[in-house]
Amino acid sequence: MVASQKEKYSMTGVLKPNYPPYVCLSKDSIKQIGNTPLLEIRNIYQHPKIKILAKAEWTNAGGSIKARPALNMILNGLEKGTLKKDKIIFDSTSGNTGIAYAFIGAAMGFNVTLVMPENVSKRRKEIITDYHAEIIYSSALEGSDGAMRLAEKILNENPEKYFFPDQYGNEANWQAHYETTAKEIYQQTKGMVTHFLAGMGTSGTLMGTGKGLKRYDEKIKAISVQPDASLHGLEGMKHMASSIVPTIYDESFPDRQIDISTDDAYDMVDLLREEEGLKVGYSSGANLCAAIKLAKELESSDSDSEATIVTVFADSTACYNEYL
Ligand SMILES: Cc1ncc(COP(=O)(O)O)c(C=O)c1O
Repeated sequence: MVASQKEKYSMTGVLKPNYPPYVCLSKDSIKQIGNTPLLEIRNIYQHPKIKILAKAEWTNAGGSIKARPALNMILNGLEKGTLKKDKIIFDSTSGNTGIAYAFIGAAMGFNVTLVMPENVSKRRKEIITDYHAEIIYSSALEGSDGAMRLAEKILNENPEKYFFPDQYGNEANWQAHYETTAKEIYQQTKGMVTHFLAGMGTSGTLMGTGKGLKRYDEKIKAISVQPDASLHGLEGMKHMASSIVPTIYDESFPDRQIDISTDDAYDMVDLLREEEGLKVGYSSGANLCAAIKLAKELESSDSDSEATIVTVFADSTACYNEYL
């Protein structure tokens, strides 16, 4: 993030209104991005020396963690002059980034067009169209990779029409987490964080938060969470070995990888609701499964040291039909 942009998007999320005159900043909504609570998982997991904590990312405006990178990529486009008055914000998304673009577009006065796999939840489609964003559907069978390919084709046919944040290849994606998510976690744990885990879509959360935490203490481990099979039901998460690998992802970065099955993640979502009173999405279930797996390994290892494991709950059930 360039210095002048840091001033605009400070850790308190307060934006300074020095944008071009055509940008209509609805500051109250955009201010509600970042500074999310860090919750302790107390009932599903307990150990005297190991804590599991999760960032309540559904509390961001727009309802998910993706508000952070979406805002940063849009601010970056304004800063560089690639996002201009008559451009349409255009990207491929499996849902949450689309909701974030749609709400930020509405708040700032930009039109938004999104390419999404046909089978994303009906609820996500409704939320996006409520903001008057347009959706172009890609094949349900091809998942997020199919949406990426179709977006590229449309963009090549009409490059002047769009501002393309390119969430899979835009450094401003992971930098949002480097500047905000990592800093919040370090401050909220008073520097006690020892491990950070996250499932990956673009990989922005893991890469940015992981790098940001290692900037404070290089011993903090960054662990990727992935579905254990190419065909899975974990919306928002990629099985990297069988997917188009995002340009911003460096596979040598994570200290390790933990694979989680769709069934285990779904069961954990139920448990989170029943035991912790949290109605979160499937990637949150996968992240907590991985955090508990790690905690159990640490329990049984010889080391007697304390651990503070932090993960993210990226969204809530508000984005999924079946809970409504
Ligand atoms: C529910 C959910 N979890 C996890 C992720 C992955 O986040 P990232 O793109 O930062 O890797 C996404 C991305 O859209 C998501 O929607």
